[in-house]
Amino acid sequence: MNVVKQLRGGSLSSTCVVQRASGLYVRKTSCRANNREHGLIRLFSQKSKQNHLARIFPQYFLPVLETGLDRLTGDAYVELEYKEGYRNLFEALSENPPEATVAKIFRLVRHVIEELGCHELESRITPQALDLYFEEELIQPVAYLRQANVHPLLEKEHFTFQGHQVRNLAFRDLGSLSGHYQRASFGRETLTHGNFTLENILVSPDLEDIKLIDCYDENYVSSRYNDLSQLLQCTRAFYSASVGCRKLIDSDGVSAAFQVPRGISQFNEMLEAYLAQVLDTEERRLIDLYLISQFTRMLPFKMKGGDSPGALYYFALASSLYESFISR
Ligand SMILES: Nc1ncnc2c1ncn2[C@@H]1O[C@H](COP(=O)(O)OP(=O)(O)OP(=O)(O)O)[C@@H](O)[C@H]1O
Ligand SMILES: [Mg+2]
Repeated sequence: MNVVKQLRGGSLSSTCVVQRASGLYVRKTSCRANNREHGLIRLFSQKSKQNHLARIFPQYFLPVLETGLDRLTGDAYVELEYKEGYRNLFEALSENPPEATVAKIFRLVRHVIEELGCHELESRITPQALDLYFEEELIQPVAYLRQANVHPLLEKEHFTFQGHQVRNLAFRDLGSLSGHYQRASFGRETLTHGNFTLENILVSPDLEDIKLIDCYDENYVSSRYNDLSQLLQCTRAFYSASVGCRKLIDSDGVSAAFQVPRGISQFNEMLEAYLAQVLDTEERRLIDLYLISQFTRMLPFKMKGGDSPGALYYFALASSLYESFISR
């Protein structure tokens, strides 16, 4: 086995392309010693979900082909086929393709969403199910960050985010959050990707084929609202564009300088128009809350990974999104 290129590397996990006699593969490894919850356990829950979905939707999901123990490093690994020439949607849209191309990519993504949504599960998305989700993924991570004493900024009731004054989310009465999703049910749970970001959707060079990677199983509620909010995380709230850039933190607030590629804005307009067409107001409000939770749920992960500037920045972004949410 020969490592051809590194796709991504971190302290706990890495993703690289490896060459073997039978062809090229993507190998994702995880450390088995540290932070097992966010590393090893997560990788193997991804693996089982990915294989399950690849059975149902072989046209979309790449199956995991091999797993094992790397004797040299002691790490665990999974391998899938390497799709040569395929680019993730953040890369593809960042090249600012013609609007007709963006529309074509959007139609492919819409098909995936709609086909997954056709597979309904027995359980319903009740306010009680959402209580559990938002308690675990929004309320608790906010409390965790506040207690972690990361930065004096978190002690302030107001700070700035990208130059605008916002109220610290930790000072809000989050106990009343459930008031925003009180209705008998939001329909049934459905099959979902679970980590439906632009980086986890690959498109072929001829833009005819889409392949999904990196799905995620621990969402408490398997809801299309979650998947849709993960797309919005990249297109409305610019996670993909901001994640790699430097975060500036001073005594007043947090900011980062980055450009939003036109292709991303166009994709977002198409997505927002689609949501307005197929969802009612309460469903769209629920997606807005889900979007906030995408940023709060990553806080413990960012902190444990040593990225406290990132945690502060996305906490401030969550504070800003919440402020717009309740003012509407
Ligand atoms: N099978 C594949 N074929 C082609 N490119 C791939 C493949 N798997 C991953 N890539 C490329 O590598 C990038 C990173 O891969 P991946 O999403 O698996 O790792 P990760 O982001 O580190 O994992 P996670 O999302 O679980 O944190 C993808 O966005 C994509 O551009
Ligand atoms: Mg990924």
